[in-house]
Amino acid sequence: MTHFLDIHTTDRPELRKIIDSAQAMKTARAGRPKGAPDDEQPLAGHMVALIFEKPSTRTRVSFDVGVRQMGGQTMVLSGSDMQLGHGETIADTARVLSRYVDLIMIRTFEEATLLEMAEYASVPVINGLTNRTHPCQIMADVMTFEEHRGPIKGKKVVWSGDGNNVFASFAHAAKQFGFHLTFTGPEPLDPEPALDGLYTTERDPNLAVQGADLIVTDTWVSMHDPQSARERRHNQLRGYQVNAELMARAKPDSLFMHCLPAHRDDEATSEVMDGAHSVIFDEAENRLHAQKAIMRWCLGT
Ligand code: CP
Ligand code: NVA
Repeated sequence: MTHFLDIHTTDRPELRKIIDSAQAMKTARAGRPKGAPDDEQPLAGHMVALIFEKPSTRTRVSFDVGVRQMGGQTMVLSGSDMQLGHGETIADTARVLSRYVDLIMIRTFEEATLLEMAEYASVPVINGLTNRTHPCQIMADVMTFEEHRGPIKGKKVVWSGDGNNVFASFAHAAKQFGFHLTFTGPEPLDPEPALDGLYTTERDPNLAVQGADLIVTDTWVSMHDPQSARERRHNQLRGYQVNAELMARAKPDSLFMHCLPAHRDDEATSEVMDGAHSVIFDEAENRLHAQKAIMRWCLGT
């Protein structure tokens, strides 16, 4: 079974194949209306379940549109509306869904839920974000960087802010794609120890961004973080805001990324988000193309 669970658990040549296929599919349908079918219909006859236990705009719409462009059908399911949210086990849910659908994408809280789904499903499972990682996002981000600047190998990427799930997938990607990753953020919000060795830390954001080809940030309070931590996190992270002054210390042609949704003028200023370095909406678009390639790869189509 070919699941797409994480970047560090997918072989390097396969990751490269997915990015190249995403770019080729994007180029092939350039300029067409979003609802127009692709010339090739690799998901014809396929049914895809998209399960959300957390909110989503990009993941939900991009997967749904991507499946339709490739000729397949989707059903979008909210975790709370399923028996999954009312005591049925993940293993039973996985076995039942596998009798109805050809592919499962799940956005959930605990990584264990994703792994159990993958263990008991007899169809491929895709990670649409957990508390620990967000691999589809970083596949789109690598694709976006390379579209603008060429190979990411050997480049310097700086993450400013919370050492969260999106950072974790960047750390996995740094090893797999061969770029240098620097984390700058407050010690209490350091990435989890399992990621040690995949990045370097520089507490001073002004020093961290020197020589950076790409600066990335994300929300200061993730969906799985308690709202009660909001004020404390804001106080801890205020000094790590990505603003024009910080961007000016990076390379002159540096890019700015944010997976979105953003809290404008918290983790990044609108001046940066809407400025010349920003590629945030290309990132959002590339979720569509990257995930189409991931689904084809999973299904072998
Ligand atoms: N970046 C991202 O995954 O966005 P959504 O939460 O809107 O899906
Ligand atoms: N770190 C954020 C990413 C949202 C796409 C969260 O998990 O809420």
